[in-house]
Amino acid sequence: MEKITRVYADYAATTPLSADVYREMIDCLNKNYGNSASLYKEGREADAALEEARVKIANAIGASPSEIYFTSGGSEANNWAIKGIARANRSKGNHIITSAIEHHSVIESCKALEKEGFEVTYIPVDSKGVIDYTALVKAIKPETVLISIMSANNEVGTIEPIRAISELAKMNDIAFHTDAVQAIGAIPFDVHEMNITAMSLTAHKIYGPKGIGALYLKKGTKIERMIDGGSQEKGLRAGTSNVCGAVGFGVAITNAVRDLEENNKKLKNIRKYFLKEVSDKIHNVSLNGHPTQRLLGNVNLSFEGVEGEAVLMMLDNLGVSVSTGSACASGSLEPSHVLVAMGLEPEIAQSSIRFTFGKDTTNEEIDFVVNALHKAVKKVRSVSAVRIYKNKVEL
Ligand SMILES: Cc1ncc(COP(=O)(O)O)c(C=O)c1O
Repeated sequence: MEKITRVYADYAATTPLSADVYREMIDCLNKNYGNSASLYKEGREADAALEEARVKIANAIGASPSEIYFTSGGSEANNWAIKGIARANRSKGNHIITSAIEHHSVIESCKALEKEGFEVTYIPVDSKGVIDYTALVKAIKPETVLISIMSANNEVGTIEPIRAISELAKMNDIAFHTDAVQAIGAIPFDVHEMNITAMSLTAHKIYGPKGIGALYLKKGTKIERMIDGGSQEKGLRAGTSNVCGAVGFGVAITNAVRDLEENNKKLKNIRKYFLKEVSDKIHNVSLNGHPTQRLLGNVNLSFEGVEGEAVLMMLDNLGVSVSTGSACASGSLEPSHVLVAMGLEPEIAQSSIRFTFGKDTTNEEIDFVVNALHKAVKKVRSVSAVRIYKNKVEL
């Protein structure tokens, strides 16, 4: 067996292209260079490839092809769904409900709407990252036009009760949008059966290419367009279509849905093995997120007495790629809004590291990661100013 020298453990940030996505995209790039809006042969062929991809995406989530709109990714889909639905329904009301743990593309879209006079309620979450359903029920008022709650969180992997939320939205005649960027391929979706009004997707988290995503929009949903220009995407999203990106996305989402159970089974074992190895070798570690209602590829851990960024950099040197729960904002480390919303103390939030594994991660790679992690945490703790461990937490 080849000696392991580096392990990528940040699959929630992005994934490599799968071999068949790569093959189909290369084939498309060679053959389908036409502009899908052109009327001649090259254009028609490119358009046929685009439409075939649209069918694949629709099939993967139980939608009709006419309800799928290509975008540049998840951020654009979130911006469009939230701003577009809110603005189009302004005459009905100016209130939006979202959660405190959404992706920045959702939170910042809501903040932008606040500047336009919309009122936004940010629903809190419990210590496991599950949104407070009672608070959500209470937040609904006659002016509410949109509820946007993510299907699964990107930092801690908690899966939100979106079936119950979509029911509630339907009962109150409110549009329901969900950011399913992290959930697709991990939990099954049937958007019609689940009463979802709008859903954001992206290809690069499921072994597809970067720069292509989609917004599912239930037939008849009122939405303003975000990009003015040509008549692509039924006049709702202008711009020359990313045909080969869409082709890659179509293959990636078909695989993701087909292999959902098999991948979840593999990831469950990987996660269990990783947690066991970490708890055997490293003390004062706590696990963030929900223990069972969760994405199986995600393990978010806090290591008391360290700064996550310091461990991240040391892990990089030792050949392991991970993320932290903090972001560098104006020279200081800001703890993640997700971990703070879950009630973690700032120094515990700042000591958190997100490990996310993929469908091909092996036990040997886990051994490599844990070995590097053991070294990195020990080293950072030995030089850290924070030496008092409050409690020993078992995983
Ligand atoms: C939950 C969630 N939503 C949206 C996005 C943004 O997707 P994209 O990178 O395609 O813009 C991400 C990516 O990190 C994400 O994790």
